[in-house]
Amino acid sequence: MKKISLFLLCLLLTPVGMAQDIEPEDAIKYRKAIMSAIKGHNNAIRSIVSSKVPFSNRLNDHVMSLQQLYAELDQIFPEGSDFGKTNAKEAIWDDPDKFNATIKKSQEALDTFAAVIAKGNLSESASAAKKFGKESCGSCHKLYKKKDN
Ligand code: HEC
Repeated sequence: MKKISLFLLCLLLTPVGMAQDIEPEDAIKYRKAIMSAIKGHNNAIRSIVSSKVPFSNRLNDHVMSLQQLYAELDQIFPEGSDFGKTNAKEAIWDDPDKFNATIKKSQEALDTFAAVIAKGNLSESASAAKKFGKESCGSCHKLYKKKDN
């Protein structure tokens, strides 16, 4: 209990500018963890909407998790995290306005996808999932992610 309150206290005392002070390799590791989590929920959604697994009661949870992870996109590319074991392209830091606009578009594509899923029609959701993959993950990766080494 003591440990938990100490942790909460540290959280409260953390200055807002902290993100700048993260070690680059830690920022990259964290970013990749977030991307893997995004991939996990996206794949789970795809398995469900293509009726390969019968867990449609879990759809909403996966969509909400995806939305929460997407809300973090504008924070996982801090200054200085462009060197090291990363496939992120320099273009992210060269033109932050353009990158932020891409993030916004990819979040809007997720909202559109979520609205289709909420209607509860699996085959409609399956085609929306393909569209979402192209418009959101795909278009950002095309501009900002190097091919995996
Ligand atoms: C706004 C841009 C953006 C969006 C949207 C985005 N990604 Fe990424 N993603 C990146 C970048 C940039 C990297 C490279 C990160 C690095 O290597 O530091 C990446 C890396 C990854 C990786 C590799 C992680 C690793 O361990 O190296 C996976 C998997 C991934 N993305 C999946 C997805 C999926 C699935 C979606 C859509 C549901 C998605 N991403 C949406 C920009 C994005």
